[in-house]
Amino acid sequence: MNITKICCIGAGYVGGPTMAVIAQKCPHIQVTVVDLNAKRIALWNDPNSENIPIYEPGLSEVVQEARGRNLFFSTDVDQAIADADMIFISVNTPTKTYGTGRGQAADLKYIELCARQIARVSKTDKIVVEKSTLPVRTAEAIQSILHNTGNGVKFQILSNPEFLAEGTAVADLLQPDRVLIGGDTTPEGQKAIEALVSVYAQWVPKDRILTTNVWSSELSKLVANAFLAQRVSSINAISELCEKTGANVNEVARAIGMDSRIGPKFLKSSVGFGGSCFQKDILNLVYIAKSYGLQEVADYWEQVILMNDHQKRRFSKNIVSTLYNTVADKKIAFLGWAFKKDTNDTRESAAIYVANDLLFEQAQLAVYDPKVSHEQMLSDLNYLQSRSDAENERMVTAYDNPYAACEGAHAIAVLTEWDEFRSYDWQQIYDKMNKPAFVFDGRNLLDKKALETIGFKYQAIGS
Ligand code: UDX
Ligand code: ADP
Repeated sequence: MNITKICCIGAGYVGGPTMAVIAQKCPHIQVTVVDLNAKRIALWNDPNSENIPIYEPGLSEVVQEARGRNLFFSTDVDQAIADADMIFISVNTPTKTYGTGRGQAADLKYIELCARQIARVSKTDKIVVEKSTLPVRTAEAIQSILHNTGNGVKFQILSNPEFLAEGTAVADLLQPDRVLIGGDTTPEGQKAIEALVSVYAQWVPKDRILTTNVWSSELSKLVANAFLAQRVSSINAISELCEKTGANVNEVARAIGMDSRIGPKFLKSSVGFGGSCFQKDILNLVYIAKSYGLQEVADYWEQVILMNDHQKRRFSKNIVSTLYNTVADKKIAFLGWAFKKDTNDTRESAAIYVANDLLFEQAQLAVYDPKVSHEQMLSDLNYLQSRSDAENERMVTAYDNPYAACEGAHAIAVLTEWDEFRSYDWQQIYDKMNKPAFVFDGRNLLDKKALETIGFKYQAIGS
């Protein structure tokens, strides 16, 4: 089957960049990205491609090249579904905040809504591709909704999990380690798989395109993220031990990372992992394990999250105890709010939790992040519902300028590893701070010696 029209439901961190790259690499395919959120679509269509709603290095250039040629952004979901041969579902699947599985299971209401909409609108056969991270066996649910429409339209469901990491999305999409496509073992399923393979084969070498059954594909996505998160929690567990024993976690990470069986990546100790995937995917894994009665398996993976929670809490506790056991009414400057550098995404960012802890201690927070909007910071805190929105607004101030954020502060907390933080005039910052001037480096980012020479009291994770 020759794909000529693709529709993607959901213009977010996954759908947006993925479709932009498919459109760039496949000029013969018309790609339409749709979203219910009209404001988001308007930003994707902004004539100045620098204003697109998602910050990713290199993305605005790709959008600039393909938009209006074969890449379109629209709110007309029905029309795009009706026209397409292949539909990607790229909507969000947050952790449930209500009912059974609250706090663990994925909330599939957006997925189900999409499936119902596809079922209602489709008049011709379609290949439906799950792109969102989903719990295992979601394809089954989508299939069941689509197959019971009674209008004779045939659907094939594929699982094609996205492995791009935010901040490096474009590079990851252009040169993926692998592309994974899961489908039915029936001849029709295999044909659908071939159709999607032929899209990626436009720029990805064939030996990097893996095909599996649907369940393996769905589970692999959860397992890949669980393994990566586990490495971060493992090194973070060691960071606390290093602080007690006088070992240095960076040295330990380097020493073990040079063992080729272990490898150097994902061993950077930090204030804790964040992002929309790690926690959610592990919780999904835990929930699935529990639902099959596999308590030990569930406990094993849950510990990765408990360790991460501990690391965030430990960081904020240390700030309070170092500042003479009180931060009440003290200005604490936050450098960084995003969950990692080179993205404006803040979902599950460690900064939110550290801020929440310090606000319980009545600190005054001054936050600077190069790409996160002020509204987003407040909405992240308001979402936790730990205190009233008005209180958050009173105790948290967002700054456009890092020097102003640090002026008069008792301490600086580095929460995101933005490169620009390294090149600041740290002497100037020091001169305007309350003394002793503390820096709590949650990312092992800054130069300890240089800061100590200026006069800062510098502490990093794991040493
Ligand atoms: C992750 C997976 O890497 C990606 O393959 C999947 O598609 C989605 O989930 P992402 O959440 O964008 O991607 O970011 P990632 O680079 O994996 O970082 C996750 C978190 O771990 C960040 O908060 C990051 O700062 C933290 N991290 C990462 C560390 O603390 N130390 C490390 O060594 C690596
Ligand atoms: P991700 O990181 O998975 O891409 P995002 O939250 O960034 O998650 O993007 C998901 C997008 O999907 C949001 O912009 C949201 O408005 C959109 N969305 C959710 N449900 C639907 C739906 N039924 N139809 C169209 N768009 C949807």
